[in-house]
Amino acid sequence: MRKLLVLLFVFILSIIIIQSHEDSSVPQSPSEENWPESLALGKEKLTKLHFYFHDIVSGKKPTAIKIAQASTTNQSPTLFGLLAMADEPLTQGPEPTSKIVGRAQGLYGSANQEKLSLILAMSFEFTNGIYNGSTLSVFGRNPVLQLKRELPIVGGTGIFRFARGVAFAKTYWFNMTSGDAIVEYNVRVIHYG
Ligand SMILES: *[C@@H]1O[C@H](CO)[C@@H](O)[C@H](O)[C@H]1NC(C)=O
Ligand SMILES: *[C@@H]1O[C@H](CO)[C@@H](O)[C@H](O)[C@H]1NC(C)=O
Repeated sequence: MRKLLVLLFVFILSIIIIQSHEDSSVPQSPSEENWPESLALGKEKLTKLHFYFHDIVSGKKPTAIKIAQASTTNQSPTLFGLLAMADEPLTQGPEPTSKIVGRAQGLYGSANQEKLSLILAMSFEFTNGIYNGSTLSVFGRNPVLQLKRELPIVGGTGIFRFARGVAFAKTYWFNMTSGDAIVEYNVRVIHYG
């Protein structure tokens, strides 16, 4: 009888432990505004994204425009102090006519006095399929004359809530005269949505 009681006690205790464990878990597809309710964010996922970024600074319909500069910017070989606001299409393929999968919106500025290098602070909003409406925040140094660059992804929204990752940027096409560029992006992002 006593053994039976002990067994029953262990059985009930294990149910309580299992239940409290389940209570602390988070739904797989979080949609609630108050998500997360605990530090367990859910299953970590690694998503790879590939697209092209069109930075058009010349012509009648530029995707990036100068919004400010310092009095000394024009004397600087790197246009140090120049600040631009951008709203640029992200496309599936490299051609400007390729399907648009999102937009990169935000700021970039010349932040290096010796070598041409930008500081980039942008939100990439995606419009395709399950990514529609989700964003990634990209913030980091972008030494544009290097063929390959690496930019940190510091956060996100929607499917990319609590995201972190890296965006590998590679110049696909650059017109030295106009300053227009098409950049290939390979993104690796860890997220939970
Ligand atoms: C993306 O979402 C917006 C707003 O919810 C909707 O109007 C649009 O049709 C969607 N686009 C795609 C490609 O699913
Ligand atoms: C580069 O830009 C210049 C100035 O806008 C233009 O005349 C030229 O055709 C462009 N070159 C290419 C290959 O698009």
